[in-house]
Amino acid sequence: MLAPPARSAIFLVLTVRDGDEAADTVRGVLGDVAALVRSVGFRIPEAQLSCVTGIGSDLWDRLYPEAARPAHLHPFRALAGTVPSVVTGAAHQAPSTPGDLLFHIRSTRQDTCFELSRQLMVRLGEVAEAVDEVHGFRYYDERDLLGFVDGTENPGGAIAIDTVFVGDEDHEFAGSSYVIVQKYLHDLDAWGRLTVEQQQLIVGRTKSDDIELPDDVKPTNSHVAVNTIVDTDGNEQRIVRENMPFGSAGAGEFGTFFCGYAADPRITELMLSRMFIGEPEGNYDRILDFSRAVTGCSFFVPTASFLEDQAD
Ligand code: HEM
Repeated sequence: MLAPPARSAIFLVLTVRDGDEAADTVRGVLGDVAALVRSVGFRIPEAQLSCVTGIGSDLWDRLYPEAARPAHLHPFRALAGTVPSVVTGAAHQAPSTPGDLLFHIRSTRQDTCFELSRQLMVRLGEVAEAVDEVHGFRYYDERDLLGFVDGTENPGGAIAIDTVFVGDEDHEFAGSSYVIVQKYLHDLDAWGRLTVEQQQLIVGRTKSDDIELPDDVKPTNSHVAVNTIVDTDGNEQRIVRENMPFGSAGAGEFGTFFCGYAADPRITELMLSRMFIGEPEGNYDRILDFSRAVTGCSFFVPTASFLEDQAD
């Protein structure tokens, strides 16, 4: 998850059928994900194929009833804004939608992402159903479809490692992570009717050269201001985002698949609360006036060795 930004990604969100047999099959497949990545990716090393496996709260209890429970694993908590949008008139909603499993597949080549997703679905067979499948692509110089560079302020190096991996505080799960995903659909027509200056005030950065606006210019309800959180000791609360643009010109569907990793998912949840409810309440994130969340799921990401051990 800390590899350089992917050129291609597939986000597969699956539900798993009821019953012990389905759980046995899934446990076995999850233990083989690393081997499948090697089978698909080894022949094309330059593709840098990787796959992150996320497990939802309900499925965790079915798969690993004997194992400990990750401290912060719970279903995605839906959020409902409390004031009407100044553009649509409706309060913003972050729905919670079904999702037992997430495969976040990344590569420099779409073919390897596709092949791994195919192999995973073959192995899972009838026991899993895809409830969402998003094929994301790199859009120019890491831009989202709103035209802004996305990912600039992601932490790197040692800070990224601390941000993403559970430490010794939950020692049984050290080296694991949490991921929250949401599919956002943009109203590109409405966005396109804004001037670049208006768009910049909504995002909090300049559009062409991606510079953060000065504090006295950047509105408190800009996306960047809402998501810049500093705790009482002055430490910035960070997550690592692996967002990808996706779309279908024919269907007129354009969006951002939000994917946020954190050692402590309460940070991502706080960001979501600030975006949808606002801090203070009502000061919601202006990006939501042009982009609506249509899915929302939370997952725990165990280490590959945990998945392999549990499958044996
Ligand atoms: C429609 C969906 C979204 C779009 C298009 C989007 C786009 C962007 C863009 C263009 C930036 C500025 C460049 C950067 O530093 O990456 C940014 C920053 C950021 N976004 Fe988002 N984002 C979306 C959703 C979210 C969500 C749901 C969260 C958190 C739950 C989030 C958290 C952040 C954070 C933490 C920053 C960095 C703030 C800073 O320290 O400067 N974003 N996003």
